[in-house]
Amino acid sequence: MKDVRVVSRKASKANYNERSLIVHDDPKAIGSEAFRTLRTNLQFTSPDQELKSILITSVGPGDGKSTVSANLAVAWAQSGSRTVLVGCDLRKPVVHHIFSVSNAPGLTGHLTGQASLEEAIKPSKIQGLDIIPAGPVPPNPAELLQSRAMSTTVARLRELYDIIIFDGAPVIAVTDAAVMASQVDGTVLVIRAHEVPKDVALHAKTLLDQANARLLGVVLNGVRPQDQKNYHYYYYYDESDEAI
Ligand SMILES: Nc1ncnc2c1ncn2[C@@H]1O[C@H](COP(=O)(O)OP(=O)(O)O)[C@@H](O)[C@H]1O
Ligand SMILES: [Mg+2]
Repeated sequence: MKDVRVVSRKASKANYNERSLIVHDDPKAIGSEAFRTLRTNLQFTSPDQELKSILITSVGPGDGKSTVSANLAVAWAQSGSRTVLVGCDLRKPVVHHIFSVSNAPGLTGHLTGQASLEEAIKPSKIQGLDIIPAGPVPPNPAELLQSRAMSTTVARLRELYDIIIFDGAPVIAVTDAAVMASQVDGTVLVIRAHEVPKDVALHAKTLLDQANARLLGVVLNGVRPQDQKNYHYYYYYDESDEAI
């Protein structure tokens, strides 16, 4: 698929609120169009292979995985698909902040047998979109993600939903994302523009290849408007000149 560039005027410190969900809050914004384009590109990326589960990962923390996952999930739900967004960056739970739902019991609570899958699934304010927050941080994230309980959970979600978006961990430093990459139909790599050196991005791709990930494409996040002259960009910023 083609790369999709998400443009912002400036990055902010971690700050999750309604403004993180541009696709819901301002569907006509050019940034929202970028996420719908990403969804369409992914839908057409593999006409012959089923694409029901997608992992969003990146090189490191703060690249925009959770933001991209959440907006992509909203865009998918808006197209009429039964969609679930699963927080599987178990070391850095964030999805519950973006959607203002409780983090507990979450995926961790379900995988450790403290809650049923039904208890872990939270409805969101967006029609057709359910959320499974990551849950309280466990001592053994990689073990949980490669447990039989996790593969059973993924299989059940495939029955319940049309599309599952996994908001993943970073691929460098911990094995969690590689573990998840082998359990999904495809993986999207978010690259933070101007911050991630090319060799580091290539290293991330190597790690994903080693995990037998099916890399669907790259989202270039945080491209500056002044970089636009040589490319066709999807432009993402808001009028108050603040980050999403
Ligand atoms: N394109 C963007 N423009 C402005 N801020 C962004 C953009 N993408 C992400 N952010 C902000 O950067 C911070 C980290 O993003 P997040 O999605 O949590 O990254 P990750 O999941 O990779 O750790 C959050 O405050 C988020 O709102
Ligand atoms: Mg995150």
